[in-house]
Amino acid sequence: MIKAAITAVGGCVPDYVLTNEILSTMVDTNDEWITSRTGIKERRILKGEGKGLSDMCIAASEELLKKRGIKAEELDMVIIGTITGDYTFPSTSNVVCDKLGAKNAWGFDLSAACSGFIYALATGAQFIETGRYKKILVIGGDKMSSIIDYKDRATCIIFGDGAGAVLLEPTNEDLGVKDFILKADGAGRNYLCMHAGGSVLPPSHETVDARKHYVYQEGQAVFKFAVKGMADVSAEIIEKNKLKASDIAWLVPHQANKRIVDATADRMGLGPEKVMMNIERYGNTTAGTIPLLLWDYEKQLKKGDNLIISAFGGGFTWGSIWLKWAYDTK
Ligand code: UT7
Repeated sequence: MIKAAITAVGGCVPDYVLTNEILSTMVDTNDEWITSRTGIKERRILKGEGKGLSDMCIAASEELLKKRGIKAEELDMVIIGTITGDYTFPSTSNVVCDKLGAKNAWGFDLSAACSGFIYALATGAQFIETGRYKKILVIGGDKMSSIIDYKDRATCIIFGDGAGAVLLEPTNEDLGVKDFILKADGAGRNYLCMHAGGSVLPPSHETVDARKHYVYQEGQAVFKFAVKGMADVSAEIIEKNKLKASDIAWLVPHQANKRIVDATADRMGLGPEKVMMNIERYGNTTAGTIPLLLWDYEKQLKKGDNLIISAFGGGFTWGSIWLKWAYDTK
């Protein structure tokens, strides 16, 4: 049976570093509060007129193609998990295919907020497993700074910009995407959403004046759903597949809040040495967190390692993927 294996990783975080100290000069907050409540020390922000999500996707993808030694023309599909595409339409996948020179690929953007990458990875894996496609670029990324209100201390301290990419290819070995459980509950939109800019409330002077083009989040409520949702689904995938904590090499958790990650790891019986973390440096990059973790930790991963990838985010959307890592980095 054909499985979909990750065969290369690329990533991009912008150069500009927005530290807790700088944020303390912008809103009423401080390093101690942010660090103890979230685990975040700094985040990256994409600066520059005309720069959008695709610029980070292109950098991540070019690095990936170089590492794998293939050309953009060889790609069959480009799927991008994001909520901050370059435009409402066309899709950022269209833009990336054009800028990258992926002339033989088609693709689409997939909107599942912080679960965007795991939704996209599970979707891409299906096109590989059917035998139809051989090379699929799956990207997760967001330019969160484009929808964050830097006057709102409850949200501006959390989010950052970044994008990561993985290549999916077929394998006949016992590697790659082994299983996934994906969930959704649209009632979550009441707690986490962007109210204006869509067809319900198109942009107008009034919506801009009312600051409705920014992320709206009821933090405490989302926190409660996230802790339970991410821990439950992570436990569910290991129980379903009869895995023990000792079978798992790494938990790859969405980086929204260190306390949510710690609760998930505890529930799974995993010590901190098995938990990938980079929230202190990048904050919450929404669909970008998971591929950026794989990018940061690539050198520590070994062929055959069992990874549990878990996320929870706006929608609500959440889920877990069991993946067997497919290569050793030389
Ligand atoms: O990735 C997508 C899914 N999103 C998440 O998973 C986010 C989940 N939520 C969270 O991570 C947390 O709820 C936050 C980090 C957003 C907030 O942490 P919290 O521990 O839930 O704080 P809180 O909202 O209950 O606020 C506690 C206090 C409040 O003051 P009072 O009412 O107790 O006087 C806030 O006004 O902290 C205040 N506060 C701040 N103080 C300093 C809120 N934001 C800040 C701030 N600096 N930045």
